[in-house]
Parts: sequence; C-alpha cells; structure tokens
Amino acid sequence: MDSMNTAFVVLNLLTTLLMINGGYAADPDLVKDFIPPSGNFDVSFFTFTAFRKVLFGAPIANGSPFKVTKASELEFAALKGQSVSYATLQYAPRGINPAHIHPRSAELLLVLEGKLKVGFVDSSNKLFTKILKVGDVFLFPKGLVHFQFNKDSKNPAVAVSAFGSSNASTVSLPSTLFASGIDRDLLTKSFKTDEETIQELITANMG
Ligand SMILES: *[C@@H]1O[C@H](CO)[C@@H](O)[C@H](O)[C@H]1NC(C)=O
Repeated sequence: MDSMNTAFVVLNLLTTLLMINGGYAADPDLVKDFIPPSGNFDVSFFTFTAFRKVLFGAPIANGSPFKVTKASELEFAALKGQSVSYATLQYAPRGINPAHIHPRSAELLLVLEGKLKVGFVDSSNKLFTKILKVGDVFLFPKGLVHFQFNKDSKNPAVAVSAFGSSNASTVSLPSTLFASGIDRDLLTKSFKTDEETIQELITANMG
C-alpha cells in the first residue's frame, strides 16, 4: 500500500471507531437505587453547590475565552450510574468553545446570560447553526461535532448544559488532531496541506 492508501485506511478506521463510540455508547443501568459512598452519608451526598459561584458572580479569568465547570461523576459522586450530569459554561466576549464531541451523550444547552451562536454538523456533513438568546434551549445530538461562540465583543455569556451520561467526556478536535502525536505525514495528507502548516497547528495546540 502506498502512504496515501495507508492514510485513507487509518482515517476510515478512526471514523468507524468514532461512530461506534459516538453512536451506540450509553451508561449501563444500575441494579440498585444509587451507589453510596463508603461510610456514613446524608443528603449532602446528593447536593452539588459548586455552580453557585458561577451563577452568582465569579467571572472567568482575564484573557481566558471560555470556562467549563462540570458536575459529572468525578466532581459529584452521587451521579455514578445515574446517566445524568451538568456543566456550566462561561464565555468571555468573543469567547469560544471549540469544535468537540461528547462520545457518550447528547447535550441539552440552556442560555442563561447573553447570546450564543451554536452549531453542530451531522454525519452527512450538514451544518445546523443558530443564534440563541436567554431562555433558549438547543440540542446537540450524541456523538456529533459541535461548538459555541459568543460573538458579542462587549458582553459575556453563560449557559448550562445537561448530559445523558454521568461522564459524557469531551473529545476536542484541535487537541485530538494536533496534540495527540498523530503522524505528521498523515495529517499533512489528510488536510491536503504542507508540513509547515501542520507544524504550526501542532505547536499552537500542544500548550
Ligand atoms: C470518564 O471517562 C474518561 C474517558 O473518557 C475516563 O478516563 C474516566 O476514567 C471516566 N471517569 C470515571 C469516573 O469513570
């Protein structure tokens, strides 16, 4: 096989893996009410308060375009086995959440402050995009590439997202493609560009 063919086969394999993960993965069901922590516990085990600071004032760090605060099973142990989680999303003026995938879950986003341009691309490469206002809800289907952009140059934006997995995980396209060590030659051919351009993308995304 020449290297063009190899690149093609590897890309096909990657796509198939992404489709298997993205299309059919789901959290397993529990056979008990919930998974208790070891030792004594009370109602505070079922309570998560770290969003208070997001919703009551704490702005995101200066110079940072975007901040996510998660309530997944890692931060909130009561979610283990319950197939739900939340994240709050804060966007600086002109801030973005770059193109990414949640392999195990759809995402239901609710805008709480500001305006957001959101979008996803389906598996036939069709783009669905919309500008959302406060109170609007948008669905990003499971496993599809999606993004959010606060196009306002003066005002921040805030949203909260619900997930149908206790650990939705994020596959970020820039770092998956350019900060994971994928063969440079393969990237150069895949993106039909030159090595310098790929090197620039790698350098910019390694950080
Ligand atoms: C969540 O998923 C990631 C992989 O996407 C995995 O590394 C991590 O261990 C999972 N967390 C838990 C608590 O299972």
